[in-house]
Amino acid sequence: MSSPKKSPNSGNSSPESNEASDESETQTFLENVLEGLGKAPREISSKYFYDQHGSELFDQICELDEYYVTRTEMAIMDQFIDEIAHELGNHVMLVEYGSGSSTKTRKLLRHLPALAAYVPIDISSEHLMQSSDELRDLFPEIEILPVVADFTTSFPLPKPQNQTARSVVYFPGSTIGNFPPEDAQKMLSQFSELAGETGGLLIGIDLQKDIATLEAAYNDAQGVTAAFNMNLLKRINRELGANFDLDGFEHRAIYCENEGRIEMRLICRKDQTVSISDQVFEFQVGEHITTEFSHKYTIDGFAKLAAQAGFFLKHQWCDPQEYFALLYFVADGK
Ligand code: TRP
Repeated sequence: MSSPKKSPNSGNSSPESNEASDESETQTFLENVLEGLGKAPREISSKYFYDQHGSELFDQICELDEYYVTRTEMAIMDQFIDEIAHELGNHVMLVEYGSGSSTKTRKLLRHLPALAAYVPIDISSEHLMQSSDELRDLFPEIEILPVVADFTTSFPLPKPQNQTARSVVYFPGSTIGNFPPEDAQKMLSQFSELAGETGGLLIGIDLQKDIATLEAAYNDAQGVTAAFNMNLLKRINRELGANFDLDGFEHRAIYCENEGRIEMRLICRKDQTVSISDQVFEFQVGEHITTEFSHKYTIDGFAKLAAQAGFFLKHQWCDPQEYFALLYFVADGK
């Protein structure tokens, strides 16, 4: 299972960044943290979730009983893989945003007929090369063409040796939901540019549902999501020499109906003064730091967003409870 690749609270993504080891990474981390904590409400960018420990915790989240997202998307793939493969057609160049080591990706690679190439895109070169090597072992017949690039920028696609009928962008895991709508819109426009007139987009979205189910998914009973969220403060203490009193914060995820999103928060339980570098922050009991959004869509609502990027909804696949949807968009031909 790979961690989601995103940077909802900042323009620049750094997925899988391990310990911010070199000096400039630490400096950027510090600057981002100081800037985010100075805002009202305070925030810390979710891209810092994914150090080694955070990535392990994220993998555990995906297995939790309450976290229906991963297994529901997988069940949809299991049930409809033949239809999905048929819809995408022959000689596809599959372009995935993320490093592509997931079970879902492997399922697609196994089933897509006469795949032209698989192009995983990731900002972390080390992780990308490692997962590409794994895939080459598993699928020696598929041309794997990794591209190191930032999600949020444009870049040229590699040219496969094989005949290519169309480029299809694959963006699973409801990662699009972690971007605020304006940024999601930008991502969709970029996908649309990349797919061009003949291409498509296969994207997973988490659907709106009852609040209890949504909140339980991000407030699991074992406290794994809480540990994942608190890991941000631990990293800031360890890597930036801050002095957050960890007992003075607690994790809570709440569903905001107006925005249609889960907000992950770290709530301050007692007044405290935190020093980071040469700055001092006064935290008051009851205030919170926002760490991540997870937007929940209706299929119609998401199709409208995608339409603004020039996409037309061609096919949709759902689980029986309608918790999650896998959507296939093509260029709308205008
Ligand atoms: N995109 C998924 C979601 O929003 C996975 C995910 C990203 C996630 N960040 C998370 C899950 C934080 C739990 C907590 O559900």
